[in-house]
Amino acid sequence: MTSIGSHNLLQGKRGIIFGALDERSLAWKTALRCKAEGASFVLTNTRQALALGKTEELGKAVGAEVIACDATDTDDIRRLLEQSMSLLGGKLDFVLHSIAMSQNMRRHRAYDDLNYNYLQTTLDISAVSLHKILQECMKADALEEYASVVTLTYIASERFLSEYGDMSDAKALLESIVRNMGGIYGRKKHVRVNAISQSPVRTRSEQQYHEVNYFHTYAGQMAPLGLASSEDCAGLCAMLFSDYTRGVTMQTIYNDGGFSQTVMSHDFIEFFRKGMENYHLTETDEIQQDNED
Ligand SMILES: NC(=O)c1ccc[n+]([C@@H]2O[C@H](COP(=O)([O-])OP(=O)(O)OC[C@H]3O[C@@H](n4cnc5c(N)ncnc54)[C@H](O)[C@@H]3O)[C@@H](O)[C@H]2O)c1
Repeated sequence: MTSIGSHNLLQGKRGIIFGALDERSLAWKTALRCKAEGASFVLTNTRQALALGKTEELGKAVGAEVIACDATDTDDIRRLLEQSMSLLGGKLDFVLHSIAMSQNMRRHRAYDDLNYNYLQTTLDISAVSLHKILQECMKADALEEYASVVTLTYIASERFLSEYGDMSDAKALLESIVRNMGGIYGRKKHVRVNAISQSPVRTRSEQQYHEVNYFHTYAGQMAPLGLASSEDCAGLCAMLFSDYTRGVTMQTIYNDGGFSQTVMSHDFIEFFRKGMENYHLTETDEIQQDNED
């Protein structure tokens, strides 16, 4: 694939990027893209993630300060906003919320066997944290006119997908917060709030999802453009942070190669047919073997 180069889309813009843990993280790729487009920003993650992950390494590579913040803790968010505005020299033009965690999924708790304390934590970390960030931004008047806030979601927010567990509820709540806060912040200060519904990408948080390999193959065969990569996601984030999308808010935008609009694809039928043929071959072999025995 050819590189999309850089276009100074974000020249002079200041932001905060939540959630870059390691080089596979969607936020990591977005930080690289924002840097290439001329933005300056602060990176943030939990204290535990900063200790165990590679956020500091990324900070050095892109010349960004790294500030610890648990996105469920409003005192932490307040401190982060104050320090970021002081370091970057003014109010913020963009925020990336790239945060999710489910103990139920990590511990293989099925949707009909949830631990409700874990569910609370899933919702708090993966959805309510966006509300907290936006509410603290409003209180501190931390965002510029026409600033842009982007969060990352997944199609299981609106369609049934076994194995996505309580994260599907968190994503549905997250998209609702996008609409409601987008409505309020748009009127107040022309601030845009959008969600990107992303194709599956192999990252740390995606490992929580146990049927991940099958689903990658399925989604890749179904989507007319194939899976949208994390670089594609980063490019769309930069576009949404830029002035080219000043009229876009309260949306869930699909970066999924067309998967969400596809019922069945020729590629998938072929893939499935070959699988069935192999299955029948194996079955015939077994029957033959049984007859010979
Ligand atoms: N990978 C995919 O296939 C995919 C697809 C669609 C949407 N998404 C979404 O993209 C986002 C980023 O996930 P990723 O796939 O890059 O995985 P990732 O594991 O790299 O990122 C998740 C991040 O959330 C951070 N986090 C967890 N608890 C936090 C807290 N309390 N405060 C602040 N940060 C916290 C983690 O430290 C980590 O950096 C998530 O919302 C995820 O659901 C991912």
